[in-house]
Amino acid sequence: MTVFKIQGGSSLVGELEVPGSKNASLAILSSVLLGRGTTVLHNVPRVSDTLTKARLLTNFGAEVEWREGSLIVDSTDIHPGEAEEETVRSIRTSFYLLGPLLARNGRAELPAPGGCKIGARPVDFHLKGLALLGADVVLEGGVYKARTRGLRGAEIYLDFPSAGATQHLMATATLADGVTVIQNAAVEPEVTALAAFLNRMGARIEGAGTSTITITGVASLEGCEFRVPSDRLQAGTYLAAAAITRGDVTVRGILPDNQTALVNKLREAGARIDEGPDWVRVACDRRLQGIRVKTMPYPGFPTDMQQIMAAVLTLAEGTSVVEETIYESRIGHVAELNRMGARVRVEGRATIIEGVPSLSGSTVEASDLRAGAALVLAGLAAEGTTLVKNVRHIDRGYENFEHTLTALGGRVERIEAAETEEARQHQE
Ligand code: EPU
Repeated sequence: MTVFKIQGGSSLVGELEVPGSKNASLAILSSVLLGRGTTVLHNVPRVSDTLTKARLLTNFGAEVEWREGSLIVDSTDIHPGEAEEETVRSIRTSFYLLGPLLARNGRAELPAPGGCKIGARPVDFHLKGLALLGADVVLEGGVYKARTRGLRGAEIYLDFPSAGATQHLMATATLADGVTVIQNAAVEPEVTALAAFLNRMGARIEGAGTSTITITGVASLEGCEFRVPSDRLQAGTYLAAAAITRGDVTVRGILPDNQTALVNKLREAGARIDEGPDWVRVACDRRLQGIRVKTMPYPGFPTDMQQIMAAVLTLAEGTSVVEETIYESRIGHVAELNRMGARVRVEGRATIIEGVPSLSGSTVEASDLRAGAALVLAGLAAEGTTLVKNVRHIDRGYENFEHTLTALGGRVERIEAAETEEARQHQE
């Protein structure tokens, strides 16, 4: 097991750039199979989810190579393949391969997907949409088996603006015969990034970034060169780290418009925010005030920042309420923050946080990616030493996390299995 050992108490100060978006990369890495030929992707973050996804593509005949920081995918010869169940189950977006494989081969089989354990995460919107596009999908023995005699354009209404369903169906529809309209589509920046990528491959997609997306099917797509935009969630995490450690952090190379919900909430809590055309700075020299936060689909407050914001608010003065409306059980951080001296309780979909003046270092466990990031931030702000276990969850979405935090003045070390005896003793 790998743990992060964090010596708390230093303010994070400095400037940084963040790598490309994990979630945009994962969606692009499904859709890349739609195009014949070679695609060159720049700025794909080297996190465990993208490494796993890139490896998975080889199961279907793609040739994949990381070269000088870019990912080269040759998807000339794609076959229905046989995916390793363990790999498919380890990431959610493995399921978004079903439509592209179907579009290329007329049939596809994939074990049911996994991903972070933050709620039930059904795939019913994907299945309904694929059926409307002319796919016949059955679940047999834990494996989704899909067939089509030809995909055709359709009108698809999503019951909820799901990012994943929008991405999966939009990509699949690029090779369908005729026009597809997706209503109540997600407007997340990662959807817009995927549409830009698909259009670069020769697709005809209009309206991405709005709730109505129109896709006019084309006969084929070709490989292309594309740069993945920067990761708004990694950026948000470092900005939140400035707030919780009473530091001063500037993230460059990002779109401030993608941070609107987060920075407005940090400002409301008392942090100082400055913005330029492609940077955001968060500075904080005092105790924050408790606030209310409610997660919503973009441009609302991102669910992926909910646990991190909760960590920040554990040290704010007064009571905060953080309401999660997207996932039913994204609360793995709560008990662990309480081990560190926080006063957080769950009431229905809300976490109620009674602010405390300080947190104390302890041994805690990451239950999922963003819970893990929240605990690292809490450890940076706590008095004494914190050990965060299950770093593998954090490695899914943060590239060079400990090095980046260290460069900003945090004290975070990655410790491998042999040294975890110390973690056990620390807990006793
Ligand atoms: N939903 C359904 N049926 C479906 C699809 C979704 O009921 O067929 C529900 C989900 O259960 C959830 C809501 O709709 O309650 C929204 O889910 P969505 O489909 O938008 O999420 P996702 O595509 O599975 C992506 C990100 C998540 C992020 C959400 C919301 C990736 C790989 N994952 O998931 O990222 O939380 O959008 O923005 O893109 C993370 O990075 O930590 C992470 C979990």
